[in-house]
Amino acid sequence: MIALTPHGQKAATATLSFMPDSFDDSHAAVGHAPVLFSETLTLLAPALGPEKVFLDCTLGRGGHALAILPMIPGGTLIGCDLDAENLAFARARLEPAAALHHVRLITCHRSFVSAETALREAGVPGAHALLADLGFASTHVDNPARGFSFMQDGPLDMRLNTDQATTAAHLVSQLPENELADLIFQYGEERLSRRIAKTITEARRIEKITTTSQLAALIRKAYGGAAGASRIHPATRTFQALRIAVNGELDSLAALLEAVPRLLAPGGRAGIISFHSLEDRPVKQAFVAAKDAGWGDQITRKPVEASDSECAVNPRSRSAKLRVIEKKSK
Ligand SMILES: C[S@@+](CC[C@H](N)C(=O)[O-])C[C@H]1O[C@@H](n2cnc3c(N)ncnc32)[C@H](O)[C@@H]1O
Repeated sequence: MIALTPHGQKAATATLSFMPDSFDDSHAAVGHAPVLFSETLTLLAPALGPEKVFLDCTLGRGGHALAILPMIPGGTLIGCDLDAENLAFARARLEPAAALHHVRLITCHRSFVSAETALREAGVPGAHALLADLGFASTHVDNPARGFSFMQDGPLDMRLNTDQATTAAHLVSQLPENELADLIFQYGEERLSRRIAKTITEARRIEKITTTSQLAALIRKAYGGAAGASRIHPATRTFQALRIAVNGELDSLAALLEAVPRLLAPGGRAGIISFHSLEDRPVKQAFVAAKDAGWGDQITRKPVEASDSECAVNPRSRSAKLRVIEKKSK
């Protein structure tokens, strides 16, 4: 039944007995389709079972968690998310299944950077399985008011946690030109970072840049004729860079990777789903280092990628890469 090779590569469609046949399941209503769904469940399954602890570092809309919940009857599910709205939605979605399967459900409005505190507060020494499905949810890009999308007009915000003070508009209006250029280059891998930063800083002397469409128009202006030659929208890389900076995404990932051996119980598995090379590279390096340090073995030597059929229905899955590591039992 499981059509997944141990080392993943292009994943074939996998079906497990505990999974629904299809996962169309009103995604429009849920607002986010979990990526690499069956592959994630398949690879975490050996670490799950009755009374086990599952730590969902990025609970989101609870798509992965809802399927994992019946795999830990009598156990504990701890879910963290920076976004209070997603967290509340996921909690309401998970509660009935948690009651049915006698699973203790703990949701925490906090960064996964403090997941060790979440485990301690729950009174559990370690998680048997952990998942971090990185970045943003579809609910973020699909809502213009959150300011993540250059395709729709909205405030230049990009905060996952709206309690946080710094927005993308703050960075765009306050960073010196060279720092803005460095940020766009480092976090967006944007070749035209200097030109874009110059265009932005010249424009902000004349008027405040407060919306996504203002910024997208400035980036297009900086690109000039190069926009036509670009395979992707010219604003893609700059928006990615600002989002990473606003939410401290790479620092958080580094902190999580450093904590994984302490977060996992012996024999426990951690799965990390990344969406671009700046995320995948540190995950790969940390998992290789875990072997060298002697605490873990990679379950996926190569990252698992979405099947063609998943890519066709969920374009976001095209860049997803899943890597899984297992902590040694002793
Ligand atoms: C790709 S979505 C997760 C989707 C989820 N697996 C599902 O099936 O619905 C990523 C989620 O992680 C959250 N997030 C991103 N960085 C985070 C962090 N450092 N700590 C906690 N949550 C974070 C985002 O707010 C978002 O809701």
